[in-house]
Amino acid sequence: MKVMRIEGNHKLSGTIKISGAKNSSVALLPASLLADSDVTICNVPEITDTDVLCQTLEYLGADVRRASESVVITPNTITNKVIPQEYTSKLRASYYFMGALLGKLKHVEIYLPGGCSIGARPINLHLKGFEALGATITNDGDKFIVDAKELKGAHIYLDIASVGATINIMLAAVLAKGKTIIDNAAKEPEIVNIATFLNNMGAKITGAGTSEIRIVGVEKLEGCYHEVIPDRIETGTYLIIGALVGDQLKVYNVIPEHIESLTSKLEEMGSNLEIGSDYITISAKDKYLPAEIKTLSYPGFPTDLQQPFSVLLSKCEGVSKVEETIWENRFMHLKELEKMGMKIERNGMVATFTGPNKLVGTEVQATDLRAGAALVAAGLAADGVTTISNIEHILRGYEGIVEKLTDVGAKIKIEEI
Ligand code: EPU
Repeated sequence: MKVMRIEGNHKLSGTIKISGAKNSSVALLPASLLADSDVTICNVPEITDTDVLCQTLEYLGADVRRASESVVITPNTITNKVIPQEYTSKLRASYYFMGALLGKLKHVEIYLPGGCSIGARPINLHLKGFEALGATITNDGDKFIVDAKELKGAHIYLDIASVGATINIMLAAVLAKGKTIIDNAAKEPEIVNIATFLNNMGAKITGAGTSEIRIVGVEKLEGCYHEVIPDRIETGTYLIIGALVGDQLKVYNVIPEHIESLTSKLEEMGSNLEIGSDYITISAKDKYLPAEIKTLSYPGFPTDLQQPFSVLLSKCEGVSKVEETIWENRFMHLKELEKMGMKIERNGMVATFTGPNKLVGTEVQATDLRAGAALVAAGLAADGVTTISNIEHILRGYEGIVEKLTDVGAKIKIEEI
């Protein structure tokens, strides 16, 4: 078993380069199948989630060449094969093969997607979108069979502004006949990044980044060159670490406006940030003002930063509150943080933190990706040694986390025990 061991309470200074966004890359890789010629995607993070998607592309018959952070995909050799659980159980985003293969081949057979256990994670809105475009969906045990004679544009209203459903419907609709409108679409920067990619391939999408996305179907898509946007959640995670133990810690290759919900909260709490055009520098303070956050879809406070942010509340004098509104099971880190010395009370989806608390290293468990990131942040700020188990969750989403933190002065390593 691999564990992460952190000797805490060392100041971190220097620079951390932010990688390409996981949640963009995991959609761009399946989306590449829609093209009829070579696609080059640059700035793809080397994390296990993107590894699995590259392996799935190869399984389907695509040629995938990876050189560091660039991935070149030759998609025109793909064949229609059932995508087995072996690939889909490892991450949620395997469901983007549904939209991409439906769009391209009008037929897909795929097992239920896996991913972090942070809630029920239904895909009813994805399926509703496919059906509106003319597909029929059948279940054979855990396998979904999505089939269409042809796909026709439709007006689709999403009951919830779902990131996954918005992207999956875009993927299926770009090659459909006629016009599709996605109403109450999600507005996350990753959606804009995927729409730009599809448009670079020849798609006609407007409105990405607003709640109404319009797509005019085209006959075919060609390969292109595309760059993944910087990971706003990785950016936020390192800024939170900087607020805990930074000494002029500079996080660069970032798009500051993508992370404004966090930076404005940090400023409100008393943090001093220097925000440049593509970097943010932060130093830790001994204490902060208490804070309240409520997770919301973009541009609200991201649920993916709720868990790491909770750790910072250990430095707040008084009572702070966190309300989670997206995932019903995203409070699993709280028990681990209590073990490390935080005083937390949970009432449904609201957690109340009373600080300040001295964090103390101990043995903790990463229950999911962002819970893992929270424990890394806590370990870096704690007295003594923190040992985190189940670190495969962390390695799914943070490229080179040990190297990046070591480079700025952290005492952190992965050990086989
Ligand atoms: N929902 C439905 N039906 C659906 C789809 C979603 O009820 O068909 C509900 C979900 O249960 C949830 C809400 O809608 O309560 C929002 O879910 P959404 O579809 O937006 O989430 P997702 O696409 O499954 C992506 C990210 C998550 C991130 C959420 C919210 C990827 C691969 N995952 O998930 O990232 O938390 O958007 O921003 O892009 C992470 O990176 O740690 C992570 C979990």
